[in-house]
Amino acid sequence: MDFEDVFNQERVTRKFTNRKVNEKLLATIVRKAQQSPSLLNSQPWRAYVATGESLESLKKESKTQIEAGVKPHEDFASMLSLDWGTFPSQNMATMGASQTYFFRNKLNLFTKSNKTMFNAPAVIFLTIPKKSPAWSVFDLGIFAQSIMLIAIDQGLSIMPAHSMVSYPDLVRKYVHIPNDEMVGMAIALGYKDRGAEVNDPKYYPDRVPFEKIFKLTK
Ligand SMILES: Cc1cc2nc3c(=O)[nH]c(=O)nc-3n(C[C@H](O)[C@H](O)[C@H](O)COP(=O)(O)O)c2cc1C
Repeated sequence: MDFEDVFNQERVTRKFTNRKVNEKLLATIVRKAQQSPSLLNSQPWRAYVATGESLESLKKESKTQIEAGVKPHEDFASMLSLDWGTFPSQNMATMGASQTYFFRNKLNLFTKSNKTMFNAPAVIFLTIPKKSPAWSVFDLGIFAQSIMLIAIDQGLSIMPAHSMVSYPDLVRKYVHIPNDEMVGMAIALGYKDRGAEVNDPKYYPDRVPFEKIFKLTK
């Protein structure tokens, strides 16, 4: 696919169809993403791919925990969005407002899609060692971006979501991640359910005006 097309298609999918993703394709995507750069070639990342029964069991137990009101406890320190810097905090507030405006009384679609791990047929859980500098989080982000762009190039849709790592103990249990690794992020892959309301293409989160993020000094 043309690079521009791949890049322009990088929008998230909050409901996948039941169609499975070929296991070899999942391995190919991660293998290609290994070429991503990292500080001193440290390659701190590991990719744990969950599909089939393991993923279904994980989804089921996560949903039970959410419904029981168990507080999310991500491995990455969480911080209330209002406590972030003013700039991202305002951007998140804008996103929240535009979601409410667009979906009105159907905001539960978002909650439901997160709660069910987007009905994804495959989820890649990304880890770095617990003993890591901030640089490794940066490297993991690059690796994640590579995975997503390569997946799109291969005809898949993507869903990066921290909600899938809200209960890292469960992820560890079902996906067999050692205790000395942080469950940093998760990317769901699959085929977009084009009829799903939550995937309405008219809901298209905007980006801030370019001038707000770009400064050229001569
Ligand atoms: C690190 C990260 C975590 C995210 N976590 C969630 C999540 O838990 N639930 C969710 O519905 N979307 C999540 N998203 C998706 C963002 O909300 C989405 O990328 C943003 O609203 C812009 O939408 P777009 O990518 O379709 O343009 C996450 C994205 C990233 C990069």
